[in-house]
Amino acid sequence: MSPEPGNVALRGSQEDGERSFEDRLRPADLSEMVGQDRVRENLAVFVEAARGRGESMDHVLFYGPPGLGKTSLARIVAREMGTEFRATSGPVLERAGDLAALLSNLEAGCVLFIDEIHRLPPTVEEILYPAMEDFQLDLLIGQGPSARSIRLDLPRFTLVGATTRAGLLTAPLRDRFGWSARLDYYPAKDLEAVLLRSARILEVGLADAAAAEIARRSRGTPRIANRLLRRVRDFASVKGGPEAEIDAEVARYALERLDVDEAGFDKLDRALLSTLVEKFQGGPVGLDTLAAAIGEDKGTLEDLIEPFLIQGGFLDRTPRGRVATPRAFAHLGVPAPDTGAGPQRRLF
Ligand SMILES: Nc1ncnc2c1ncn2[C@@H]1O[C@H](COP(=O)(O)OP(=O)(O)OP(=O)(O)O)[C@@H](O)[C@H]1O
Ligand SMILES: [Mg+2]
Repeated sequence: MSPEPGNVALRGSQEDGERSFEDRLRPADLSEMVGQDRVRENLAVFVEAARGRGESMDHVLFYGPPGLGKTSLARIVAREMGTEFRATSGPVLERAGDLAALLSNLEAGCVLFIDEIHRLPPTVEEILYPAMEDFQLDLLIGQGPSARSIRLDLPRFTLVGATTRAGLLTAPLRDRFGWSARLDYYPAKDLEAVLLRSARILEVGLADAAAAEIARRSRGTPRIANRLLRRVRDFASVKGGPEAEIDAEVARYALERLDVDEAGFDKLDRALLSTLVEKFQGGPVGLDTLAAAIGEDKGTLEDLIEPFLIQGGFLDRTPRGRVATPRAFAHLGVPAPDTGAGPQRRLF
């Protein structure tokens, strides 16, 4: 789970209907997963090597922006290894005992998935160190002077961690993963493939040109691509009946109605950019001030909105605050201020 902005339906993630929809479209094994070639290829090697040795796979950390496939990959690890999948998350494990109970009931070889692993409380994290390293559990029995520590052997397991904020992981935890893989935004051509696959599963006709149009505006994110597909399908079926194929024209019309612009920015992206450009003359402006000006929570800005804007060259994070780039001014059709600083800050 990731932080949810309340007012953007296309990004929110966990209501029930949306979740079962996501589960239907989730790639079940490596062959169904689209894109992220390097990650897929490496994972295939590690799975094959571990299986060949008859061992569990080494612990792995998947990190990157929301909706790029971290949870899907965690499930894929279990599927490819042919083992049980157990899932929990950082905020759910409140006390050391919660994790101890979970660990001592694992099946040998099982995949234990901890989502939002950067949010593990420190006392819980400490239990995880010997568990990951030596497959041992240190338990403190009793209290006060009579307290004693006992050590239990655990079955071997594979810990799969996921986080949108790798920078918040402590060094000891990070070091205990044998491999960490960063997921990047998907190029439009991969999102097209994601969309065509989803359309097949949902049994809806999707023209190639329409897939391209939706892909281009999905912020590099399969989750968003799938959500847009679902909403575009609604427009198509209201316009042309339930069996109507989605063509480029209806895709464009629907995307416009959904307030998704040419760059794939939605209302929140545009709110951030226009606040920065129009209210603060392009910055620099501190994150707190910016968040307050937009009426959004700081974490939402950092996790959900900024990474894509930064990657697209619309926004810079500087030590003095957030700065809009000339590309952001151009996107909003606002003339960039003449800073008198000679050449532009960035070259595109
Ligand atoms: N490589 C892919 N190929 C096809 N579909 C994908 C791929 N990656 C993600 N998806 C789709 O996007 C949805 C979201 O993916 P997933 O839940 O794995 O993302 P996540 O990185 O765990 O996000 P979060 O950080 O919000 O937990 C999936 O249900 C699936 O439908
Ligand atoms: Mg996830």
